[in-house]
Amino acid sequence: MPEMIIESPDEVVAFLKAQHNLIEDMFDQVLHATDPRAREKPFAQLRQLLAVHETAEEMVVHPRVRREVAAGDAIVDTLLDEEHSAKELLSSLENLDVTSQQFIDELIRLRDAVLAHAEHEEREEFPKLQRKLDADERKRLAGAVRAAEAIAPTHPHPGVESAKLNFAVGPFASMLDRARDLIGRATA
Ligand SMILES: [Fe+2]
Ligand SMILES: [Fe+2]
Repeated sequence: MPEMIIESPDEVVAFLKAQHNLIEDMFDQVLHATDPRAREKPFAQLRQLLAVHETAEEMVVHPRVRREVAAGDAIVDTLLDEEHSAKELLSSLENLDVTSQQFIDELIRLRDAVLAHAEHEEREEFPKLQRKLDADERKRLAGAVRAAEAIAPTHPHPGVESAKLNFAVGPFASMLDRARDLIGRATA
């Protein structure tokens, strides 16, 4: 994500929390854009960050929690459901006119859902991961999250939530998404 330089903490929980904060700021940027047309660019950045962030969690973070944390399955299943609904909302937003009131209404719904989801992760999942992994493991996991984000699809793909499906479908979807982004930018 070349346009989105953020301070990248080198430890997985700090890294993911920093992205949660960035996502919140980016919702504000879209909602408070100077005129309705100006929503387009920050929305494209937000959409991309959300897509790669959730995919990396699904490929790297949640599977680790399933393995390491007692009752991890129940925690992760709930988070995957939330991620699925958020992707569906994000997909439907992609088809709306950014200048419409409906876009704003749906965007607010998505923001509320995404922020509640991030809070659940920060409360239910991250502290448990933090306790289970030592500092070196947390750094290695941050590296894995970055690697997953670099190759993740840049558009939402509801229905692809398991790590297995992300590995199977992800690379092809990612290639198409990234080509679509390039073509879109070149022909806008
Ligand atoms: Fe998530
Ligand atoms: Fe997250």
